[in-house]
Amino acid sequence: MDSLNKDALLDRVLAISHAIAGQLDYQSVLRQVAGEIYELFEFDHVDVAIINPSGIDFTVYEVGMETEWGRNIKGNHTIVNSPVRSVLLGELPFLLTDDALIDERFHFEGAFDSPIFEAALHSRIIVPLHAHGSLLGTLNISNKQKQKYNQTDVTVANYIADLLATYFFAVSQGEEAKAAVIAENQALNRENMLRIGALRLTEGMEQERKRIGMDLHDQTLADLTRTVRHISRLRRREEVNVHDLALLEDEIDTCLKELRNIIEDTKPGVLELFGLSQAIEAQLLRAVAGIRPSISIGVIDKTEAYLDAADESLQTTIFRIVQEAINNAVKHSRPTYLKVEMSKTETGARIEIMDDGAGIDNDADMTSGGLGNMNVRAALISAEISFLPVKAGGTHVVLDIPFEAVVQ
Ligand SMILES: Nc1ncnc2c1ncn2[C@@H]1O[C@H](COP(=O)(O)OP(=O)(O)OP(=O)(O)O)[C@@H](O)[C@H]1O
Ligand SMILES: [Mg+2]
Repeated sequence: MDSLNKDALLDRVLAISHAIAGQLDYQSVLRQVAGEIYELFEFDHVDVAIINPSGIDFTVYEVGMETEWGRNIKGNHTIVNSPVRSVLLGELPFLLTDDALIDERFHFEGAFDSPIFEAALHSRIIVPLHAHGSLLGTLNISNKQKQKYNQTDVTVANYIADLLATYFFAVSQGEEAKAAVIAENQALNRENMLRIGALRLTEGMEQERKRIGMDLHDQTLADLTRTVRHISRLRRREEVNVHDLALLEDEIDTCLKELRNIIEDTKPGVLELFGLSQAIEAQLLRAVAGIRPSISIGVIDKTEAYLDAADESLQTTIFRIVQEAINNAVKHSRPTYLKVEMSKTETGARIEIMDDGAGIDNDADMTSGGLGNMNVRAALISAEISFLPVKAGGTHVVLDIPFEAVVQ
């Protein structure tokens, strides 16, 4: 269940909550949610053990398959004889096992553990059902395969148990109390939804803040640095003519347009106008303009426009990574050449940015600034990025983009 994201989990939990609404006995509640629980964990057997008012024994309700546990023969279900007594007694917060058949925690003198062997319930998760400050029982999820569940599953099982427990608590109350608890639970659900909604919103804002930060860094900061360089070149001249000023004006104008794009979150102008490989070439031209000694540049695109069909945001991310690699090469390495090569590989697409300059330091900080941004952006599109030193001198940045990111 590793791949389940927070949104999908929320949807499932809400579905469980809807499925139980209105069910007022244990077996119906369990039957209603079984399908939803199955979406979260494959299981062969699920049961809940509900502690009876005596506090000495408990009743079992099961779905999936029938076992001796479900037969509820009087006297069978004393807590001290339950294989999951450690959780029923509140001694352990949960039980997670890859193989309950050999896990000693489930087997002891007098344990009613025969169904574990008869039904071959190897993998098991046992979590407590807590409501209104008391322990009502346990939720037990089992699978015939070994090593089926992990710690994430325990967390999710706990969510489900919390949700079920409030309903079970309602079931254990009189009619009036039932209605009150159900109303309270509905309010709790609404509150949870609001809380999760607010969390999603904050996460969205945080991501947006990061994006703007990275875009300003890769685009606006680099543009303004270039313009300052241009102005300082002009300052060293005897006189400045109208043509020079017009070029400067153009530069600032472009920078303003890009800044507006960043604010409006549209594609970088150069990408919109030219497509990816042309945009990279245009970026190279812009980056080396006016640099002395001059830098020879080249773009080789062997992908047959493969990446042009990809999602806009993927292209933008790739462009931003290449843009920073180009800016870095020009800014730090004093190369004689700077080349970008795009190719198809067995696993997707590869973009290489190569310079023959000073070479990147081994101890360069990969976690912040431009290099940090490149790493973050690569991770966002599930791409691999590496910075390889070149024997003859220079830097070789390799970006590997997987098929799955390109074809969606
Ligand atoms: N192509 C390159 N050739 C040589 N050194 C490089 C190259 N790319 C990066 N570096 C080195 O790595 C360091 C970190 O790069 P990074 O892009 O993170 O920061 P920066 O370019 O100095 O500042 P900024 O945060 O504005 O990008 C640079 O200071 C430089 O020393
Ligand atoms: Mg940089």
